[in-house]
Amino acid sequence: MAGRLDEARRHTLKLVEPLTHEQLNRVYDPILSPLIWDLGHIANFEELWLVQRIGGREPLRGDLGELYDAIEQPRKIRGELPILRADEVRPYMDGVRERTLEVLREIELDPEDPLLADGFVYEMLLAHEYQHNETMLQLLQMVESYEPVEVDGAPAAEQVSDGPEMVRVEGGAHEIGAGPKGFAYDNERPRHRVDVATFLIDRTPVTNEAYISFIEETGAEPPMYWERDGEGGWVRTAMGRTEEVDPRLPVIHVSWEEADAFARWAGKRLPTEPEWEVAAAGANRDRANLDELSFGCAPAGAYADGCTSCGAVQMLGDVWEWTSSDFTAYPGFAAFPYPEYSEVFFGDTYKVLRGGAWATRRDVIRTSFRNWDLPIRRQIFSGIRCAGDDV
Ligand SMILES: [Fe+2]
Repeated sequence: MAGRLDEARRHTLKLVEPLTHEQLNRVYDPILSPLIWDLGHIANFEELWLVQRIGGREPLRGDLGELYDAIEQPRKIRGELPILRADEVRPYMDGVRERTLEVLREIELDPEDPLLADGFVYEMLLAHEYQHNETMLQLLQMVESYEPVEVDGAPAAEQVSDGPEMVRVEGGAHEIGAGPKGFAYDNERPRHRVDVATFLIDRTPVTNEAYISFIEETGAEPPMYWERDGEGGWVRTAMGRTEEVDPRLPVIHVSWEEADAFARWAGKRLPTEPEWEVAAAGANRDRANLDELSFGCAPAGAYADGCTSCGAVQMLGDVWEWTSSDFTAYPGFAAFPYPEYSEVFFGDTYKVLRGGAWATRRDVIRTSFRNWDLPIRRQIFSGIRCAGDDV
């Protein structure tokens, strides 16, 4: 566990290593925290759950908890809070980690304590840091002249496979959600039966090429970060670099509203959440563009050797896929370990996304993992895979 915590931290620090103090402190967009807030918050969450709650110790600085409370402090005001700044945040992160490791050495993983059984609280801590890496990467898209410390070029070179546009998924009674064993979030439980009619699902994510046809024909807005190149084509600017839009790549940074409009234009629809999870059965996260360091998508149709049982590719990795479903509780849901992770978001305000993106750490994604966001959001790494009825 100490090794995994260390690996997660090294990854986080790798992402921010090229940044100046000014870039760390800067508010690039009111819907995203300054990166310096994320760093302090990651350590504060660890202190709260591990050092205080499990280890029974006093916090290093009692006043920090309130500043790093994600519910109390909305993103748009985080830049103005008296949070730890660049030269204070690293000593705090290191100080918390030292005490976490002390607690780790002392503690027995009591199987009767739900926070400790199977190391739940440690897995939660890792998942939390991994997930913050992804929100940090959302912001890094907006940082001019950002030069990653390390880039993995392998996904871009993956072979594109041939196959039908859509594949068929057999209907009937299926089980979705996470079983009782192993780490999962409360919103993925309990595993339960769903009945789905036979349906079709796109074999690959929707490409930039298809999305360009849609915007040219309907006058819809281009995805976030796109601009006209002056000659009738499209360029995309991220991390300060402008490149021609590659028609072979999955479209990314589109809102739910845009995804839904695209699907209708294509004579299709978005999959429901149960349909998505049924279609994703058999997906292999080791053959997927995940783990942050590719800094972009693999071409649509890549990773055909890691396809799901129905023959769909890239259901994990590359782009989060919007579903038609609202983020709601599964039957028999119980909030654990705190209602602010998911329960407070249930309702008809948020739409569910599935499958993870290139910016998602491999260890956090699974076919039952549920992500959610507002239907207008597109700073997230969101794309489209359409479904259709079997006629
Ligand atoms: Fe958080």
